[in-house]
Amino acid sequence: MKVNNTHYRTIWPDPADNRIIKIIDQRFLPHQFVIESLRSLADYVMAIRDMHIRGAGLIGATAAFGMYCATLSSPSGDYASYLKEAGQKLLATRPTAKNLAWAVQRQLQALSREKDQQSRIQKSFQVACEIADEDALFCQKIGEHGLKLIEEISKKKGGEPVNILTHCNAGWLAFVDYGSATAPIYAAHHAGIKINVYVDETRPWLQGARLTAWELKEEGVPHILIADNTGGHLMQHGMVDLVIVGTDRTTYTGDVANKIGTYLKALAARDNNVPFYVALPSSTFDWEIEDGIKQIPIEERSGDEVNFVTGLTANKRIETVLVPPENTSSVNFGFDVTPARLVSALITERGVVAADRDEILKMFPEKKRS
Ligand code: MRU
Repeated sequence: MKVNNTHYRTIWPDPADNRIIKIIDQRFLPHQFVIESLRSLADYVMAIRDMHIRGAGLIGATAAFGMYCATLSSPSGDYASYLKEAGQKLLATRPTAKNLAWAVQRQLQALSREKDQQSRIQKSFQVACEIADEDALFCQKIGEHGLKLIEEISKKKGGEPVNILTHCNAGWLAFVDYGSATAPIYAAHHAGIKINVYVDETRPWLQGARLTAWELKEEGVPHILIADNTGGHLMQHGMVDLVIVGTDRTTYTGDVANKIGTYLKALAARDNNVPFYVALPSSTFDWEIEDGIKQIPIEERSGDEVNFVTGLTANKRIETVLVPPENTSSVNFGFDVTPARLVSALITERGVVAADRDEILKMFPEKKRS
């Protein structure tokens, strides 16, 4: 997508030296646009764990390039244990996003077939680039499928703006390009359909206020920022036509883990007959576990993210301030799970599918379980 009219992806190899990988450091958005270079496995671990980059698809692509970086410095002797250990270090950074394990696994599998160090290096770069390209392509397709849902509502409303509520940032910043929840939004906007996006601010890290609002502004999409608690009220008053969110992990039975607070939006949507869609590339499905609430690991982050907020002062300085009384205990679960029964449908790169085990397996028959 475009930033100041220049096209960017969220991760790309340095054209002068592809051993160096560039990312947009999202901690500084929306007030500063900072590009960071990743050069060592430790850089990748820090970038994922400390959220220089975040979002399921981008975590996966970054982990894939992290494995490439590990391959560059792996010994030619016991390279297999070295790479496995590198994979473990990456996996330990953020436990909920499925794309992380999926990307590490895809790299390890591909590398196990290569015979020498040079071919392993070439292969791991190729696989990382494939993962990044595929992520962008799948998001684009999600946009095409989701566009039809928005088009239908727009027709029913006689061309009046379609009001879409989204939570967190499942935008292009959360992927390599386009985004999952935002791909249908961008597609509708580019197709000339009138839309308005309600952006949940998404405490505590404020992905909505900081990232989604910035993305939509850069792309010229009409949007309104709301406090997290506002969605239910809007839905009761007919001000939301549909909800579209992303997901960090969705079970093959249709349970959806997404940013904390998503479940409350799904409850409000069900109570008010507002369709609740979840957009995801297939790399986010967990094909092993069936009970999302019991089995999806939920990341717990530092309480400091709840207690402190960072923003721009009137003098244009970025500052972090404490909100509650000093030493207040806080708890910070990163995600919650919305059960399949509250999800109207999933929007995938292959099409729109009910959040139902049989329907999902029909759409992805190669994943059929014995
Ligand atoms: O903690 P984050 O910012 O990595 O979490 C991201 C989310 O939960 C987003 O809501 C998104 O839907 C999933 S990533 C596409």
